[in-house]
Amino acid sequence: MLKKKTVVKANPVVIKKTSRYKEPPQLLKGMKDILPEEQQYRLAVLKKLEEIAVSYGYQRIDTPILEQANLFIRSIGEGTDVVGKEMYVFRDKSDDLVALRPEFTASIVRAYIEHGMMNRPQPVKLYTAGGLFRHDRPQAGRYRQFHQLDLEIIGEGQPVIDAELIAIGYFLLRDLGLNSYVHINSVGDEQCRPQYIQVLQDYYKAKRKNLCENCKNRFAKNTLRLLDCKEPACQEISADAPQMVDYLCVPCRDHFVKVLEFLDETEIPYTLNPKIVRGLDYYTRTAWEIFPVIAGEEQQLSQSALAGGGRYDGLAQQLGANQPTPASGFAIGIERIILTMRNNNILLPGLYTTDVYLAQLGESAQKRSIALMERLRQAGFRIWGNLVKNSLSSQLKLANKIGAKFTLILGQKEVIDGTIIIRDMESGSQEIVNIKKLEKELSKRLPQSLLNNAPKYIRPIELEGLESEQSTGVAPADKIKPDPNPVTEEGLE
Ligand code: HAM
Repeated sequence: MLKKKTVVKANPVVIKKTSRYKEPPQLLKGMKDILPEEQQYRLAVLKKLEEIAVSYGYQRIDTPILEQANLFIRSIGEGTDVVGKEMYVFRDKSDDLVALRPEFTASIVRAYIEHGMMNRPQPVKLYTAGGLFRHDRPQAGRYRQFHQLDLEIIGEGQPVIDAELIAIGYFLLRDLGLNSYVHINSVGDEQCRPQYIQVLQDYYKAKRKNLCENCKNRFAKNTLRLLDCKEPACQEISADAPQMVDYLCVPCRDHFVKVLEFLDETEIPYTLNPKIVRGLDYYTRTAWEIFPVIAGEEQQLSQSALAGGGRYDGLAQQLGANQPTPASGFAIGIERIILTMRNNNILLPGLYTTDVYLAQLGESAQKRSIALMERLRQAGFRIWGNLVKNSLSSQLKLANKIGAKFTLILGQKEVIDGTIIIRDMESGSQEIVNIKKLEKELSKRLPQSLLNNAPKYIRPIELEGLESEQSTGVAPADKIKPDPNPVTEEGLE
């Protein structure tokens, strides 16, 4: 029984039985249940993405969902929307300031340093997939818990690496049947960017009063983001803003030109877009995003980007690496890919199709059913068994509803005779076969393609990762009101 007030030491949570307490609990705003209909897309997409990452030589890493808040504050940057407004930050029961991860890059770089990966052959190529949290304004394609596949190459600064990552992102989407377009820019480095930001501030100063409230606040702390604001008034102003590419230092310009030359050697469509500045402070030089093409039209809303990434040469040293550690990476948004696939009517082979339904009648048949189902599963069939007693007609109705191709009928007589009835659900014809030869008989009836090409998407590792992420973090986050003054000196302790 819950007491009226329960106070937990070090992190007081007061549970009050208010009137809302009596209402049925509901999904949190911006969160999403992933129902079986979507799972077949999800698992297929994850499988494809993972397959490609592995075949390009990336190795899987998993980092915790919960990290020190400082990790993200120091890497993504205090003035960014992701840290300043959207991060789920709270004090845990040990009074540590922690955050639900809003992205993977910072955690992977922390792990690289903490596990001495600089001593492995360089570069280190890592990938991961899982859930992330950003308390942003929810809308189609933008959730507060979402999932990414993320690829990072740490320990190499050559421009060809950036081109390689862009190519992987593009071909990955193409393999899923999606047309897309790359937008690319250079955001310079610590040598040339400060001068550009000064030029940008000079340009915006006189126009500041016409900017949206958000941009007025970004002016000093996050000047680059003024360029990618989607408010019409701000877009009008940014149309004539000075461009970073005109202020790049020689090494940054050379790097950018080489990335473009590598891309020119591929069939990847790209466009130079001075407004791609990315929302995270750690980027240096190459910054890019991939947008979908739907019905021949490029979609360019901020919440339609399918993937985003770039180079972050200074991040590892910023987080404590004691030698220069250039790096580059990108992440793909799983929910957005699925949304785009559905909008493009891209169909996937059904994950939850059933080959065979097992209907049993009578106690002795019921007793045989579990072992028989396992036998058929091992033979590679997708089997749906009804082990509770029911009439044959209601079992056949159910078999029809779930789309079983064949129903096996096992009654008392069949058990005694060592036989089983195979009913073709389309024609309604039935045949009695020797139960010992059942697998052979079924293989003859089910088209070869069904057996061999049946997508075997469910792999324990994927399910484990996703399931635990679904259930972790969300409930406690409910209790966390996003801090109205989220990042203070305290965050930098
Ligand atoms: P990002 O651009 O913030 O980059 O996110 C990458 C992708 O994640 C986006 O293009 C989008 O598809 C998806 N995404 C982001 N926010 C949401 C959301 N609220 N709801 C649904 N999908 C979303 C990063 O996260 C960087 N860490 C990428 C990176 C890796 N850069 C270097 N290495």
